[in-house]
Amino acid sequence: MQIEEKKPLIAAFCCNWCSYAGADLAGNNRLNYPDNVKIIRVPCSCRVDPTFILRAFQRGADGVLICGCHPGDCHYTTGNYYTRRRMTLLFSMLEYLGIEKERTRVEWVSAAEGAKFAQTVNEFTAAVSALGENRRLEDLRCKE
Ligand code: FES
Repeated sequence: MQIEEKKPLIAAFCCNWCSYAGADLAGNNRLNYPDNVKIIRVPCSCRVDPTFILRAFQRGADGVLICGCHPGDCHYTTGNYYTRRRMTLLFSMLEYLGIEKERTRVEWVSAAEGAKFAQTVNEFTAAVSALGENRRLEDLRCKE
């Protein structure tokens, strides 16, 4: 009998203008990436409020990925600069709370980078898998 390994649950916030299109391109090109990645489309990466990330961990996510346009290419001009600053602070705060920094990542993926999106997701999933389940911020009331 083979014991099935539990796949980590990954929440991936993708901005509408670049990264979501990049994820779409990865799918259209039939590039493989794990099905345990839940993509959440947001208008811009700066729309991702830090509480969204805390909530994702509370609800059982093992890792959170934020993808946006490359610096200088944001549809709203400077949105991803806010993301970069905000997430640097948040990730260091999460590390202080005991969430390993490998469980969070910001990546810039353009609409033409389907292969980069698939590679990023595969690498991130492997890194989170190596850490195992995240129980640090998990809210047991959110368990089914
Ligand atoms: Fe993509 Fe702002 S629209 S990061």
